[in-house]
Amino acid sequence: MSTSSDYIYLSPPDVGDVERKLLLAAFDSNWVAPVGPDLEAFERQVAGYLDIGYAVALSSGTAALHLALLVAGVDPGDTVLVPSFTFAASANAVVYLGAQPVFLDCSADTWNLDPCLVADELDRCARLGTLPAAVVAVDMYGQCADYEQLLAACDRYGVPLIEDAAEAHGASYRGKPAGGFGLAGVLSFNGNKIITTGGGGMFVTNDGQLADRVRHLATQAREPVPHYEHRVIGYNYRLSNLLAAVGRGQMTTLDDKVRARRGTAAVYRAALGHLPGIDFMPVAGYGVPNHWLTCVLVDPAAFGASRGDIREHLAAQGIDARPTWKPMHLQPVFQDRPMRGGAVCEDLFRRGLCLPSGSGLTDSQRQRIIAEIRSVAREGY
Ligand SMILES: Cc1ncc(COP(=O)(O)O)c(C=O)c1O
Repeated sequence: MSTSSDYIYLSPPDVGDVERKLLLAAFDSNWVAPVGPDLEAFERQVAGYLDIGYAVALSSGTAALHLALLVAGVDPGDTVLVPSFTFAASANAVVYLGAQPVFLDCSADTWNLDPCLVADELDRCARLGTLPAAVVAVDMYGQCADYEQLLAACDRYGVPLIEDAAEAHGASYRGKPAGGFGLAGVLSFNGNKIITTGGGGMFVTNDGQLADRVRHLATQAREPVPHYEHRVIGYNYRLSNLLAAVGRGQMTTLDDKVRARRGTAAVYRAALGHLPGIDFMPVAGYGVPNHWLTCVLVDPAAFGASRGDIREHLAAQGIDARPTWKPMHLQPVFQDRPMRGGAVCEDLFRRGLCLPSGSGLTDSQRQRIIAEIRSVAREGY
């Protein structure tokens, strides 16, 4: 995918011989369809890894979020609490259902949905008799949200929580794998994620009935009779068996890929963590992130260059770094939606930079990135 061999992408796919063989074997088997043995094997593999009852492979993480919210009972006109600091898909899925996202700020010490804000908002809604139909928690950049606190707040009012673990496959919270919290979890296998199928996602849950409903809805909601019978509106959201074969291969090296990203985070931190004006995304004591992307906050006065200066310099050197997510409440498409708080995520957006973090990053590439970042600083560290 590169135009120049020394270009460094933010988080490129990392696939190899195992995936290639499995893909060709699936092709040769003629299960070239959104059904087949690789699909089932991939689901079993992911469910086993997450130690969860059921997994349904879908065409994207966004599709998984859409169906997760649908089976959670989100109806047109409902509200759903969503962190403002996330990728747009977390909120888009709410709008697909005709529901209204209510955006909440995140905590500065985790960059994840602020559990106190969630509790306050649920208390407020309960007093008004307008409880949201669901809460979406996102495991930001591969670090889990604080599920003990979030679930305590949600359980008080019986509001279902959906875990958007698109970025967090391989991370854990209090020893339990990301994706397994709340009513259902969602994974993404987009090309930039920790493992990829070249586009894909998964719905995971311990509720067999929910998994059956998602499988049904994802395959056009066709009734199990010989002719084509439909009682509800369905979707064509199933993952291809060919792509599931790639996913099977990726799962065999998931732990290696997580280890590589954690290693990269440690190298960046050791080389840049002591520089004035550079702060790394905090690691919460309650879990172990997968470090999908390593992110820093830049204080321009102390560092001598802004987040934008660093990004532009890296881009000129053929290195892809990105601003942290632009909060949803600042997006033109969501500007009229309600927002609670906002100062924290606005600051993260103003100062945050995601550094190249792919699991295939070599040590010499890491050293090149570090040297270029240092060279932008006022002191030229
Ligand atoms: C937090 C978050 N949620 C949802 C998604 C959507 O996943 P997909 O691209 O597989 O639809 C992504 C990334 O793409 C994401 O980062």
